[in-house]
Amino acid sequence: MRIGVLGTGRMATTLARLWGSAGHEVLLGSRAPERGRAAAAEVGCGVRGGGHDEAITHGEVVLLTFPGGDVVRGVSALHFRDGQVLVDLTNRVGLELQAGDSLAQRIQNVAPHTRVVKALNTVHFRCLAHPVHPTVRAAGPYCGDDADACATASRLVVDAGLDPIYAGPLSQAYLLEHFALLWIDLAFKRGVGVETAFALLRAGSA
Ligand SMILES: NC(=O)c1ccc[n+]([C@@H]2O[C@H](COP(=O)([O-])OP(=O)(O)OC[C@H]3O[C@@H](n4cnc5c(N)ncnc54)[C@H](OP(=O)(O)O)[C@@H]3O)[C@@H](O)[C@H]2O)c1
Repeated sequence: MRIGVLGTGRMATTLARLWGSAGHEVLLGSRAPERGRAAAAEVGCGVRGGGHDEAITHGEVVLLTFPGGDVVRGVSALHFRDGQVLVDLTNRVGLELQAGDSLAQRIQNVAPHTRVVKALNTVHFRCLAHPVHPTVRAAGPYCGDDADACATASRLVVDAGLDPIYAGPLSQAYLLEHFALLWIDLAFKRGVGVETAFALLRAGSA
């Protein structure tokens, strides 16, 4: 799959490495194209780099890795293709949103011709790079309104090493964002630690 990644930080480079290793064609897009190229060179795995526009042109799917407080403004300033799949992994740390509201829905509102899927926001980047458990995959819930876009996101969740769990339409994104806030609170304030992740246990599974 051709994947454009917007941003060159921890989640962007971790996922670029995993997806590049899995055989996807990844292009890391930065606000500063030179930084995108440098980040790609550091990641390796066939990953290329450049600016935001190159990543959007390249990607059948585009991953948004901006800080939560900047993502809606950032997306509204960019030009995506009609029907392009946007995977939103941002979190609302320190942001006050109304009950039921979500960053993912706000992104969909400012880019109405795209297909937004919320995914990959509930696992720490270190636990993507180095899975917590040798056999049990961390939960990878995702939600979105378009079945094909959700199928695309599900494949990327699997190729990030997670257990894909469909969590309903995009109106459910606030649940995924709160789920991440719970993990962040446990990990950073309640002593649970960063090397942790939630998993879904299913009756009868090995
Ligand atoms: N860290 C985690 O484990 C984790 C887990 C799940 C979800 N998340 C969420 O994923 C997102 C990224 O987290 P991260 O830890 O990867 O952050 P990060 O390391 O700070 O990377 C964010 C990247 O976004 C770009 N950026 C920064 N400010 C921006 C702005 N104002 N407008 C547009 N682009 C900007 C930068 O790339 P350029 O300078 O190259 O443009 C930067 O490298 C956040 O929303 C976070 O809540 C993080």
